[in-house]
Amino acid sequence: MIETERLLLRPWRETDRNPFWSMAQDSEVMRYLPSMDRADSDDIINRMAVTQSEHGYCFWPMELKTEGRFIGFCGLMPPHEPFAEVEIGWRLERAAWFKGYAREAAQACLSWAWQELGVNSVIAVTVPDNERSRGLMLRLGMTHDAAEDFDNPNVAAGDPLRRLVLYRIKRPDD
Ligand SMILES: CC(C)(COP(=O)(O)OP(=O)(O)OC[C@H]1O[C@@H](n2cnc3c(N)ncnc32)[C@H](O)[C@@H]1OP(=O)(O)O)[C@@H](O)C(=O)NCCC(=O)NCCS
Repeated sequence: MIETERLLLRPWRETDRNPFWSMAQDSEVMRYLPSMDRADSDDIINRMAVTQSEHGYCFWPMELKTEGRFIGFCGLMPPHEPFAEVEIGWRLERAAWFKGYAREAAQACLSWAWQELGVNSVIAVTVPDNERSRGLMLRLGMTHDAAEDFDNPNVAAGDPLRRLVLYRIKRPDD
């Protein structure tokens, strides 16, 4: 469990399934993400829970402390094809945008990665047009090298979600 001034990042619960599915039905939230049906939505939660139990971390549900309400997720994923480094990721319901919640959660996740995982870098990826996500990467101090942009091998050629930009942040000096 990670606590920040306004947020709690905690393990997934059964009660997260409906609000997570609600986010998946918001076309603005999903604009740069693959569309999914209810089974896909539930499957993601199942897989997150497995990742949590196998690795001790995952993309964690994010709760507003004052309301005890699920507003999205932010967290870390172990290295997985085609990535060789730990990845940070986020998705918030639209009503929770523009309040600094994503940044607050992501900064806490990065601190956790440096302290608990001992990794030397963390990456984030998104499609080139996802300006809000790229803006957050920059606000976190992540940097982008266009030479590292790549095509996701798990996405079909011609799909607009195939091309990805990669941002990285290095472990701060102690
Ligand atoms: C990407 C995403 C998480 C960014 O959320 P966000 O709310 O814009 O990001 P931040 O938490 O950094 O908030 C920054 C905004 O909050 C504002 N803000 C308000 N109060 C604030 C506070 N107390 N502290 C910091 N920022 C605050 C900032 O001014 C800024 O707004 P601006 O961009 O208009 O200047 C969100 O757009 C999202 O969930 N998108 C859909 C899912 C998605 O695409 N995920 C990524 C897939 S790779």
